[in-house]
Amino acid sequence: MATLLNWLSLRTWKNKYIVKRGKKTIVHYTVMLRKRKSLILGSNVKIKHHAMLKGRIIVGDNTDISAYVVIKANKKSAVTIGNNCLIREFSYLDSIGGIKIGNNVRLSHHVSLIASTHHFERTDIPFSEQGMYTKGGITIGDDVLIGAGAKVLDGVTIDNGAIIGTSAVVTHNVKTHSIVGGIPAREINVRGRPKTNLLKAQA
Ligand SMILES: CC(C)(COP(=O)(O)OP(=O)(O)OC[C@H]1O[C@@H](n2cnc3c(N)ncnc32)[C@H](O)[C@@H]1OP(=O)(O)O)[C@@H](O)C(=O)NCCC(=O)NCCS
Repeated sequence: MATLLNWLSLRTWKNKYIVKRGKKTIVHYTVMLRKRKSLILGSNVKIKHHAMLKGRIIVGDNTDISAYVVIKANKKSAVTIGNNCLIREFSYLDSIGGIKIGNNVRLSHHVSLIASTHHFERTDIPFSEQGMYTKGGITIGDDVLIGAGAKVLDGVTIDNGAIIGTSAVVTHNVKTHSIVGGIPAREINVRGRPKTNLLKAQA
């Protein structure tokens, strides 16, 4: 039944939103799409139930977007996701400054990428009337794991091979192969470095 509904929704209204769709790509019939002619999907992409996608979003091959993920982009600030990526449940990607994600990247569940910042300098009017700006968006390289519940703020670049620990708040750039954790996120190790060496180095 679900297969039939998926087929029907893609054949009818969903293709109004999808500019290009590769082979074996599945968009679950409950997925909410919010901007016409805005989605480019590679091959073998899976967008699972109750995800919400708004604005210009480009997804590479073999990438899964899990249930209840929200991705918001607009014409000026696309969200680009590479090949072989997994965005897990309840993650939230908000792009005023643009979000670029490389290949082989995993966002665990409840990750937030917040590529926008509020103006609040004036105290004579509410912050909600002061608008928003961007510090340059968020860029994530290849082979990056972002642990469950982590938050990445606007203007941050995470280089290839980095690991972001569970619940980290990433406020500064993260170097290649660095393992970071905490609030604000600090380097706690480097990928490939034996833990015994780390302990000796700290002694
Ligand atoms: C960051 C992480 C990769 C580190 O793993 P590890 O290299 O095995 O590190 P260890 O567990 O040996 O911990 C090393 C140190 O970092 C600390 N640390 C570990 N994870 C941390 C985190 N998320 N935030 C802050 N500090 C952390 C440890 O307390 C330890 O500190 P200590 O030496 O003072 O005791 C791991 O803890 C993590 O958060 N993984 C992500 C898990 C996840 O979300 N998976 C997705 C599921 S869908």
